Amino acid sequence: MERAQRIAIAKQLLEMVDRKETQYSDEPAWEADIGRFTDKARFLKEKEEFFLNRPQVIAYTADIPENGDYYATEIAGKPILLTRGKDGKARAFLNACRHRGVQLAEGCGHASTFTCPYHAWTFNSHGDLIGVPSKDSFDGLLEDRGLIALPIHEEIGLIMVHPQPDGHLDFDAYMGNMKGLIAGYHYENLRFVKEFRSTARINWKHAVDGGVEGYHVPFLHPQTVGPMTLQQFLHIDSGLHHTLVTVSPDIVKLKDLPEEEWPEWCYFSCTNAIFPNTVVGAGELMAFFQRSDPSDEPGKCDYVFRLYGWDRNAPEEIRQRDEHVANMLITVAMEEDMKVQSNSQIMMENGAVPSVIFGRREQNVMRMHKNYDRLIGHDAEAALAAEGLKEAAE
Ligand code: FES
Ligand SMILES: [Fe+2]
Repeated sequence: MERAQRIAIAKQLLEMVDRKETQYSDEPAWEADIGRFTDKARFLKEKEEFFLNRPQVIAYTADIPENGDYYATEIAGKPILLTRGKDGKARAFLNACRHRGVQLAEGCGHASTFTCPYHAWTFNSHGDLIGVPSKDSFDGLLEDRGLIALPIHEEIGLIMVHPQPDGHLDFDAYMGNMKGLIAGYHYENLRFVKEFRSTARINWKHAVDGGVEGYHVPFLHPQTVGPMTLQQFLHIDSGLHHTLVTVSPDIVKLKDLPEEEWPEWCYFSCTNAIFPNTVVGAGELMAFFQRSDPSDEPGKCDYVFRLYGWDRNAPEEIRQRDEHVANMLITVAMEEDMKVQSNSQIMMENGAVPSVIFGRREQNVMRMHKNYDRLIGHDAEAALAAEGLKEAAE
């Protein structure tokens, strides 16, 4: 986000704070069926349409900052290996040996070659097959046995990958307005601090929903992040992507400062939900990256939450502070957000909740769910009517 835009947002927030105004959507509150969280057929359709056939932001530049770095991650269970070659270029491959498919790398690290644990085939960071024991036993079948490359684009500190080798990836078209909101935060300078990763007992959408509405913040997080925010949340709609702007009580300090002295972050932070489930956020102290990929059941996802500091060459005291803040944020995500999201999921699966409603302060969530429905051709009204929860449309 350019400085001029930050200043304009800060001014808007200051006015809202003065008027004690909270942002309500123009769209009315919306009742929706719970099948979006529990229905297996819908879940499989989403996995296919949203995850396995679209480009997605799956990492930061900071996950493979140096030449020779690698990072093994996944898209909806499809293992992906990101590497940065000697030429500085980021590459993406299916993380599968071309002999019999065994995964070549786990986690992240630094390596110029990847040797399969099964029969020791070896590949370099450009994906070329460079070593095969008893090579002559393969009777010439080793042509074109390099790793399967995936379309990739790296810009503004984000790495976007398409999970299909022949998939179409147009970063600018995909990101739309969201690119301008993220650019200028210097995500490219981030330093990885730590991650939390687990199978979570939620539908993948719960984790995205929780990131982009502020309505719950004072109530669910009264001892942690709640007091760090005011009620003046702003919602920015970038088509399929959505941003929640969160303002610090310290924003009032700007009133006594000439505009040119306003700090870069202007006392607000942005949490950006990039379709379908990448949530990236930037605040004064740290940045984060979250994905909640659909697992094998509607009520399960592979959850990853990674925290980053802003300066690659930060001194020890900043690193210690970042470690402390990261631990606090992981605790908030797990003990506060994830706990109630799992509870919500289990209650839905047990038939305790016939429908859900989204209010005008949950407008990002409402819009995201309407987008999901539109993209898979789901009619929420008809689904409610089928459950006897609404009059069928004429
Ligand atoms: S499966 Fe990788 S070398 Fe055999
Ligand atoms: Fe939260």
